[in-house]
Order: sequence, then C-alpha cells, then structure tokens
Amino acid sequence: MALAYDSPIGIADAGPGTSRYDVAVVEPEPRYRMQLGTQLAGAAQFESIEDLVQHLRPGRPVVAVFGPSVAVPYGFQQVQRLTAAYPELGAVFAVAELSAPVLQAALRAGARDTVAAHDAATMVQSVARVGELLHDSTASRVPAVTESRATPGRLIVVFSTKGGVGKSTIAVNVAVAMAQRTRDRVALVDADLQFGDIAVLLGVPPKTTITDAAASIQFGDPEMLSGMLTRHSSGVYVLPAPPEAALGSTLPAEELVGVCAALQTFCGQVIVDTPTLFDDSTLALLQAADEILLVGGMDIPSVKNLKIGMQALDLAAIGGSRLRLVLNRANTQVKLDVREIEQVLGLRAEFPIPSDIAVPISVNAGRPVVEQEPKCAATRALNHLAVTLMGAEADSGTKKRRGRKKK
Ligand SMILES: Nc1ncnc2c1ncn2[C@@H]1O[C@H](COP(=O)(O)OP(=O)(O)OP(=O)(O)O)[C@@H](O)[C@H]1O
Ligand SMILES: [Mg+2]
Repeated sequence: MALAYDSPIGIADAGPGTSRYDVAVVEPEPRYRMQLGTQLAGAAQFESIEDLVQHLRPGRPVVAVFGPSVAVPYGFQQVQRLTAAYPELGAVFAVAELSAPVLQAALRAGARDTVAAHDAATMVQSVARVGELLHDSTASRVPAVTESRATPGRLIVVFSTKGGVGKSTIAVNVAVAMAQRTRDRVALVDADLQFGDIAVLLGVPPKTTITDAAASIQFGDPEMLSGMLTRHSSGVYVLPAPPEAALGSTLPAEELVGVCAALQTFCGQVIVDTPTLFDDSTLALLQAADEILLVGGMDIPSVKNLKIGMQALDLAAIGGSRLRLVLNRANTQVKLDVREIEQVLGLRAEFPIPSDIAVPISVNAGRPVVEQEPKCAATRALNHLAVTLMGAEADSGTKKRRGRKKK
C-alpha cells in the first residue's frame, strides 16, 4: 500500500537537502518493495507505476526507484513514457543483476542511473545525486499553471505549401509581438518535428519538447504541460521540437491537436509553426485552428503551390474567413505583382511583409527581429499582423504599456 504523498519525503540517511525532492519506490513484489523501502528509509512505496502517477505533484522533483520486477520489457516501456511525460521525475533502476542489456534498456527508458538492488550504499548515493540534479533543473523551469481560462485561447496555425517562405520567422515574431502587448499567456509550438528551428530562432534550450508534451497528454494530465514549457525572455512560453527527431517523424493527429487544446486551456494565444507537409496531423491541426496564416512568397512556384494547397483545404472544408494570406517579401521586385497573386488565389493579401535585411541579421543574432530592430519595416508589418490577430486584447495591452512610467 502506498504511503501518503502529501508531505515531502526525504531519505533519512542521505544527509541535508533531501526536502528539496521526494523519493519513491515502485515495485509490485512485496518482498522486494520492503527491501528497497528499508534501504531508502522514508521513501514512499508504490505497487505500480499507475499508483505512483496518482500521487505525483506538478513541479515537485521526485526520484523514483524502480525495483527488479519493473526491469522487464513492459516495465521499461512504461518508464520510458513516464520519464518523457514528467521531466521532474528522475528514474533509477534497482536491478537484480547489472548487465549490459539491462543498462541499455534502462538508458533507453530515460533512467538517470541503474544500480544493483542489494547495494544499499550505492543506491542512496545515486538517489541523492539524481535528486539534487532534478532540484536544480526544476528550479529553472516554468512553474506549473493550474488555473484554467473561462474560454479556450485562440489557436493560430502558420502554414504554407512551400518550404523556406518564412513560416518560422512569422510564427516566432508574431508570438513575441503578441507577448509584448498582453498580460495573457502566449504559447509558441514547434510542430515541425524534423527540421523545427524555433528553439534556435529564440535561443532557448529544447529541454522538454512537443514529443514530451504529447506523452503527458497520453497520461491524461494536461496540467503537467505547463511545467514543460520554456519561458523566453519576451514572455512567450515555448514548446520546441525535439533536437534530434528521426527522419520523417511526425506526431499522431490526436496528440498534436491534444497538446494544442491543452495549451488553449491556459494560454490566450497558441501559435503553431508547421512543417511543409500536408499529412493527416497537419490537416487535423488546420481543422482545429481558429486562424490559419497561409504564408506565400512572390514567385510562381510559391503561388502555384498555394493554389493547390487551398484547393485541398477546400476539399477538407477548411477555408473561409479563417484563411489569412501573409505575403512574405512582398516588396520584392519581380515580374509578379500583389494584385495578380490575389486574383489567382482569390484571397486578399491582407498581411504583406517586406523583405528586410534586418530579418536574417536578427536570426544570426538569435533574437526575433521585433525585439532586435523595433523600428524596421519588417517589424512594423509583423507588429501589425500580431495586433490585428489579437483585436481588442492588443488594445488592453497597449493601455498597459502607455500606463508605464517613463524612465
Ligand atoms: N521578410 C523577410 N526578409 C528577409 N529575409 C527573410 C524574411 N522572411 C524570412 N526570411 C529569411 O528566409 C529564410 C527562411 O525563413 P524561415 O526559416 O522562416 O522559413 P520557413 O518557411 O519556416 O522554412 P522551412 O520550410 O524550412 O521551415 C530565413 O533565413 C529567414 O531569415
Ligand atoms: Mg520553418
């Protein structure tokens, strides 16, 4: 039977600082569980991973020691999902016998350490080390947001049928421009699993990613999601793409939409950058979107691809007023003018963004152009885009800024 988990549980023998994290033992076999519980005096004991999950508290670091009965293929699988979903949980395997295959499986499951179950001294040391590491990394993470909004926030998806047209640039800068104008939370999601570069564009470490967030949704615990976001200095809450996703990897549609829906429960604006990929997941995301920023360039292939893309969207009954055309590098002198593009697409080029050298310069500086060059032409257009999307919400933010005292 599990111990109460309401108060911090430390290991009596592990010395000072143990109230900075909790310690739990997970082992179905009573004999092993008791042995581990004795070695790690004061640790909470659980019969199963499900039991442990019930008692996890958002934002509180916990070292979970998994006993010998968990070190089996199904157990490793469960622990892998758990470590992905709960970044403040540090897994340690206490196994009957240390062997290369077991160490490898534990590593793949996201374990921080693997020790021999009979070696009490090493186990105590390992738990203390993992606990301190967890405490340090959890302290720098965004605190969990527990209160929900009365109405869901807005889902804004930045999409194009052609690569390299400026989707990520627009997603990042619109999010930052919004965060500059509201006290409400603004989230930025990188749904480009393979080549996502939001983390690089904002200079934030991809500690916990959209893949981890999707795993937390599987656990039916959207609240944990808030603790997985990384806060950029502008105030934007970022959910980056994994730094090393396998080629061709995508998230299942329901997970991608589920992550966004969960973010909408506590963020006023959720901006999603997408890959140039017309798959089921992107389609589901577009279906769920409140606004779709369709990004196009000033060249024939880009316009042709957009036209084909719009026809596909039409077939999926995605269109109408949700589609807003963002024409990037709209001032580029080519033998194609904006009016012609509007005619071909049957869509007003509502948001022209000029080509501006300040954009690539800011990319190389690791700062969004709206911060780096607040007065340049691209910033003015991107600010206009953000303000238009926010509507009345931006007005309240402007008042807030006007109300600030000048230095
Ligand atoms: N308005 C602009 N003026 C000048 N350069 C720009 C502008 N918009 C984007 N760029 C540059 O174009 C390049 C591609 O932009 P970005 O990465 O945003 O495109 P993308 O559509 O996200 O590409 P991908 O399909 O690879 O994800 C970047 O180097 C960016 O700095
Ligand atoms: Mg991109």
